Amino acid sequence: MSDYVTVTFEPTGARAKVPVGTNLYEAAQEAGVEISGSCGGQGTCGECQVILAEGKVSEPTSQEKELLATALVEAGRRLACQTKLRGDAVVRVPTAETAVVRKALQPEWVRSVPLAPNVRRYDLDVAAASLDDQRSDFRRLAEAITEQPSSLTGTVGCLRSLASALRAEDQKVAVTAVGSQVVDVRPASQRSRALGVAVDIGTSTVAVYLVDLETGKHLVTAAGQNPQVRFGADVVSRIQYANSHADGLTALRNEILATVSQLIRQAVEEVGAARADVYEATIVGNTCMHHIFLGLESRYLAESPYVPVTAETVSASADRLGLEINPRGNVFCLPCIAGFVGADTVGVIVASELTRRDRPTLAVDIGTNGEIALWSGERLLTASCAAGPAFEGAQIHHGMRAAPGAIDEAFVSGNDLAVHTIDDQPARGICGSGLFDATAVLLELGLIDTKGHMVDDQSCGTLSDTMAERVGGEANKRHVVLADAEQSANSPIVLTQRDVREIQLAKSAIRASTEMLLEMVGLKPDDLDEVLIAGAFGNFINPASALRMGLLPEVAEGRIVGIGNAAGAGAILTLVSGHERDYARQVAETAEHIELFRSSDFQDRFVEYMMFP
Ligand code: FES
Repeated sequence: MSDYVTVTFEPTGARAKVPVGTNLYEAAQEAGVEISGSCGGQGTCGECQVILAEGKVSEPTSQEKELLATALVEAGRRLACQTKLRGDAVVRVPTAETAVVRKALQPEWVRSVPLAPNVRRYDLDVAAASLDDQRSDFRRLAEAITEQPSSLTGTVGCLRSLASALRAEDQKVAVTAVGSQVVDVRPASQRSRALGVAVDIGTSTVAVYLVDLETGKHLVTAAGQNPQVRFGADVVSRIQYANSHADGLTALRNEILATVSQLIRQAVEEVGAARADVYEATIVGNTCMHHIFLGLESRYLAESPYVPVTAETVSASADRLGLEINPRGNVFCLPCIAGFVGADTVGVIVASELTRRDRPTLAVDIGTNGEIALWSGERLLTASCAAGPAFEGAQIHHGMRAAPGAIDEAFVSGNDLAVHTIDDQPARGICGSGLFDATAVLLELGLIDTKGHMVDDQSCGTLSDTMAERVGGEANKRHVVLADAEQSANSPIVLTQRDVREIQLAKSAIRASTEMLLEMVGLKPDDLDEVLIAGAFGNFINPASALRMGLLPEVAEGRIVGIGNAAGAGAILTLVSGHERDYARQVAETAEHIELFRSSDFQDRFVEYMMFP
């Protein structure tokens, strides 16, 4: 056997010839392929995941077994730093952009809860029929499952295959039930997996979390852009599109169904499963996304008094809704609260157990539509505000999503400002967390004043030379260079006067809403035990920057906690636990929704908080 092996990295096709026994992390470096790994190959961070397409490698190590779900390892997923080459191999590296988006959407707040999903599996040895026991096949099956067999029904599809399935392997069968319906019976040796998906339909991003319903483990995340973006960046423009085109609602619905189905396909392929193994989907999203997904008229969400068609939970068969999971599977939509406070907020509340806390806590989901929930210790108040898509990088001159090359941090360095980009790539734009930081730094350095005006040429004289050189342009095109041509992939990346205006509008809407809710329950910012920031980039926001720009009530910095995509975490919890599903219902029933933005008080506050502190 040769002492050297060749490894090929897909999708780029880069190759390296390395000694036998080299691990994939080192081989990737040799091939010039970037694989992230913040632990430097110690096998502790779990970031260096790759998929072994073919070839001979070492057995999974204990670290891999700990960090990766068994199903993933079985499907070829490995940690590059732990996997040694024994022969030639082909390895797939998840694309960097996908990895970044997935990281941003990791549902970190999935608590450990007792496993009690709506999908249940049974491995049965059913009593055989005889002349002395002429109970029907289904009755014998149902009695093997429960002492109350009449509480179960079988789908027609399942009943059609039942007789043969029972007799194929001497009455030994693997059964899947969804709720009170038996949906699948097959000979024991053909036992399938029981998977579920939690789906978070955001206005800009869609995330699908694949979960093993027999272990409760989150297996993989598949994420992508909401394709409806081409019909409008925010919910109101999508509602308008649906209203003003004959097939507008159908077009919007088809787009999201296709995307969610495609992401489910991608996720199950990654673990070597089939879509038929997915028996249930739980859905969260704002009320508009929820309505479009279900094909409900969304028109009245945007017209006073802004009522949804339904705010209750909705359950329907996958087949009926056209979602590509097992056609006999169930789709469960979490309840909404109001026209602009949706199932995503309910998901955030479930994930953070907001109303189970002893002390007042505020949860803010920063998305295109800001959704706010305040738990006073006794009352749950919710409100929404049109924050606009600025914090998601839209309508910002060089705005972009969190992807390699996005400026995600800005800080003061000496007399100058410095930036960090995702994956240390040349700067391509600026994402939400970078916008927060950049605004705070420009305020700190005096490049923008409390009204949000960028310094004029005369005031530039008071700045250091390096800072003054960063400022240019006129009026709305006035800008500050965040990354010059040398630091960027192309031309300089700037923050413009117009961008600052967009940021002011977004932050003011959120701040005015939170302050008004606090006042309504007689609380001061200092009474808040914690301020939870949800949303795809909730974990990446620098609390000091959020406070500096006046986005949040004035609380101690340590009380601000990023909780990531908590809406997705809530969808997962309700997928694996009926108890959490009941909690979601209870949250929606007890929430008091406050319509803020019509009140003159709100308008006054909004103007007040346009100012930076
Ligand atoms: S580099 Fe951290 S686990 Fe491999």
